[in-house]
Amino acid sequence: MLLHIPNVLSADEAERVRVALEKSEWADGKITAGYQSAQAKHNLQLPEGHPLGREIAELMVQRLWQNPLFMSAALPEKLYPPLFNCYTGGGHFGFHIDNAVRQVPGGSERVRTDLSATLFFSDPDSYDGGELVIQDTYGTQRVKFAAGDMVLYPGTSLHKVEPVTRGARIASFFWIQSLIRDDGQRTLLFNMDQAIQQLTRDVPDHPSLLQLTGTYHNLLRQWAEL
Ligand code: NI
Repeated sequence: MLLHIPNVLSADEAERVRVALEKSEWADGKITAGYQSAQAKHNLQLPEGHPLGREIAELMVQRLWQNPLFMSAALPEKLYPPLFNCYTGGGHFGFHIDNAVRQVPGGSERVRTDLSATLFFSDPDSYDGGELVIQDTYGTQRVKFAAGDMVLYPGTSLHKVEPVTRGARIASFFWIQSLIRDDGQRTLLFNMDQAIQQLTRDVPDHPSLLQLTGTYHNLLRQWAEL
């Protein structure tokens, strides 16, 4: 499932983040790419552990754990600390699939990349190109969202970033290890949770809500990996 999560950061916050990142010293994006994807990757990246990056990542993580749509869709077990990239002057990243397991720098923790996320900081009108193209079971999707919005998609997807031919596309990207490894199971739980929330608003006293909510939790209990 591919999901648009609006307003993870407000437009003002996204703007402040973009301005701060624009003034930073960027490095070659190949530093975090595997051997094969390094051949396809032509962008800039904020060095891992950069103080500004850490500060923004902290804000993002705080917002994400309070975001009901993100929590419902991702069912996160843990996050790989957000990274930051900049595509400009024709920068692009050809088709690839992200590494399955990533070691968190400076620790022994590893994150299985069940889900990938991109949070946009640049206003889509301020640059040309830079679409995130994702091939999933429903065909090819082209993603270019408002500043502050995020896209969540399965880590198993083939994806690329189109060349940026004007302006700069500044974004954050990171991965999520989910309690539910399988995208199909996770999507079923998400759809069920959304329907339960809708019913809770429309018919809050219906006795079947108790049973439906219980069934959601019993499925989650059966499938969750901790
Ligand atoms: Ni990727």
